[in-house]
Amino acid sequence: MIDINKEIESLNWDKEPKGLYEPIGYALASGGKRVRPTLALMAAEVIVNGGLLNGDAIEQTVPAALALEVFHNFTLLHDDVMDRAEIRRGRPTVHVKWNDNTAILSGDQMLIEAYKLLAEVPADKLPQVLKWFNEMATGICEGQQMDVDFEHMSQVTLDDYMKMIELKTSVLLANAMRIGGYIAGATPVQQEALYQYGLHIGLAFQVQDDILDVYGDPKTFGKAIGGDICCNKKTALLITALENADAESKAELLQWIMATDRNEEKIAAVTEIYNRLGVRQTCEAIMEEHTALALAQLDKLPQNDTTERLRVMAEQLVMRKS
Ligand code: IPE
Ligand code: IPE
Ligand code: MG
Ligand code: MG
Ligand code: MG
Repeated sequence: MIDINKEIESLNWDKEPKGLYEPIGYALASGGKRVRPTLALMAAEVIVNGGLLNGDAIEQTVPAALALEVFHNFTLLHDDVMDRAEIRRGRPTVHVKWNDNTAILSGDQMLIEAYKLLAEVPADKLPQVLKWFNEMATGICEGQQMDVDFEHMSQVTLDDYMKMIELKTSVLLANAMRIGGYIAGATPVQQEALYQYGLHIGLAFQVQDDILDVYGDPKTFGKAIGGDICCNKKTALLITALENADAESKAELLQWIMATDRNEEKIAAVTEIYNRLGVRQTCEAIMEEHTALALAQLDKLPQNDTTERLRVMAEQLVMRKS
């Protein structure tokens, strides 16, 4: 059984110049759920345990799994600058502990490190993996741009939001599944099922992230509560609230969206409106819908212990608190 945390620990960041590499070590040593590399390895396992290919396939997935986690952490360094977020995984973010320039450049280097790891994918599999990885990376940048654009837009529909989170979040989970499975020898039909499973758990995952940003416990969530409310992020909660509000609540909400100072007061007031409108429940229903769509994909895969673990994983991710 591969221990992904040990694999991540084995990467060496004790290099010069320290100003570039230390923040990378700091980010990667700060934990996190390791969802993406875990999914890549599980996707390989579900295929290999299904009896299709050789046992080395899981080992061969490790560099791609690491590339996905390093890439994910790169996006977080830049995302925290963009969102002006000060806490991640219960610790100061890189741009706070160092500065914006460090977060930018160490982040850039992490992107390069991700591609160096990816280059270790078996040569016959590399062209396809690279194509998917590049599509994913572009998708994330597009999604991040939409997320930022939406902050300043008043008419964002739930459909717009779903497209945005598919790009900024889901394509990474979807490609983790597809790449892991492909390296292990998944058939095209299985590759597509793995991709769709990842895509739908990714959608549920981001809606849950939006919920936790308001309703989470900062100790377990590891991030500050209310950051999305402060920046007028068009989250699942805000869009649902704007769509379902009566005229009075809507006016109140729009008033708070205009407020750029009084953050503490804004968080409390907007949360109170969310509570009044019951938007959390509506968002939980969206999560359940996508979890069900993810689970349905598992029928198309070999049935073994890992299929069962993927079932549990989908169900647990929507109940997560961190
Ligand atoms: C944070 O991802 C960014 C989102 C897509 C919501 P995770 O919640 O997977 O972060 P870590 O890696 O576990 O800290
Ligand atoms: C996650 O968006 C998407 C990426 C980091 C690419 P968020 O901005 O919601 O992620 P958190 O909440 O900061 O982890
Ligand atoms: Mg953020
Ligand atoms: Mg963000
Ligand atoms: Mg968030």
